Amino acid sequence: MTIIVTGGAGFIGSNFIFYILKKYSQHRVICLDKLTYAGNLATLKPVIDNPNFSFCRADICDREAVYKLFEEVQPDIIVNFAAESHVDRSIEDPGVFLQTNIMGTAVLMDACRKYGIERYHQVSTDEVYGDLPLDRPDLFFTETTPLHTSSPYSSSKASADLLVLAYSRTYGLPVSISRCSNNYGPYHFPEKLIPLMIVNALNDKLLPVYGNGGNVRDWLYVEDHCKAIDLIIHSGKAGEVYNIGGHNEMSNIDIVKIICRELGKPESLITYVPDRKGHDMRYAIDPTKIHSELGWLPEIKFADGIKKTIKWYLENRSWWEAIISGEYQKYYQKMYGDR
Ligand code: NAD
Ligand code: DAU
Repeated sequence: MTIIVTGGAGFIGSNFIFYILKKYSQHRVICLDKLTYAGNLATLKPVIDNPNFSFCRADICDREAVYKLFEEVQPDIIVNFAAESHVDRSIEDPGVFLQTNIMGTAVLMDACRKYGIERYHQVSTDEVYGDLPLDRPDLFFTETTPLHTSSPYSSSKASADLLVLAYSRTYGLPVSISRCSNNYGPYHFPEKLIPLMIVNALNDKLLPVYGNGGNVRDWLYVEDHCKAIDLIIHSGKAGEVYNIGGHNEMSNIDIVKIICRELGKPESLITYVPDRKGHDMRYAIDPTKIHSELGWLPEIKFADGIKKTIKWYLENRSWWEAIISGEYQKYYQKMYGDR
């Protein structure tokens, strides 16, 4: 089985590559990645010498490069993680989100039609459903919840989902889509809440919480997400959407306080800053479908996952120090300087 993993030099894609290469000794994995600010070859160090792994630097929007790779490797499965993934950046500059997340998806699926594949899998997000109110804890996102997006990021992901379903119906392309809640774990870029708070706390820097910190996210350890995608691509039905989430809703402020406690840092580092524009209140996934059809259940409890994650950041300082010493400084100043 030959799998092209796009965006595999990023957070979830790299964890997925590690998981697949460890589990299947016969699978060949090709990582296609543009290496944007979020992609990092150092992340792929653990597999770079694995004979079943290879890397191709390319943009998923570059039709010629994508077709060339398909022709060369004749993939059976494509798993598309490649995306601009940060909501705050999409608010500053939506254009590249539309380009990569929508047009790039179309190029990949055109290549699938041209060369023939067994499965195209689109890694989507719970953000396509919009948000839920805090005072209705009985409400959850199911696969039939209408799409109702808030940010340029989530709108671009929802657009891609619609395109994927259109290629299924119109051309009979064997597709699947997964919509997962917030992930955390190793190799998470320190622009996102959990790694940003860990890295800032370790450097005794302020911990910027948006608004009143009451927004709720449904956190899942990244390896549980990888296991779910593995099940979907091997056993899930073509044409289907699967929600992925572990019923682990937590407010941002509670997350930040846990990180302070685990690192022995004072809560006085927490600073409340002006809110994100259009900030979604609460996400909460109903994972009944993937559980009943494919037997998936999350295995890592948050209390253990956050300890593992913090341990990883403590033991891999050089990975994140290299990131925050570069362009990241300009990004941080722009996003948090006057906040
Ligand atoms: P990430 O930002 O860490 O990684 C994205 C990767 O895609 C990087 O390696 C980057 O170089 C690559 N990339 C970006 N544009 C590209 C292009 N035009 N061509 C080729 N490669 C390109 O993202 P992540 O957090 O790992 O998310 C991966 C996917 O999972 C995304 O599609 C995201 O929407 C989705 N998702 C993320 C989460 C989460 O909590 N992080 C949850 C649900 C779904
Ligand atoms: O739900 C899945 C989505 O989760 C993915 O589709 C996105 O790619 C991923 O980035 C993530 O989106 P969020 O916007 O939920 O993640 P982020 O880590 O940016 O923010 C989590 C919450 O923390 C959100 O309510 C905003 C808040 N926050 C974030 C940052 C970076 C802060 O309070 N302070 C911060 O500095």
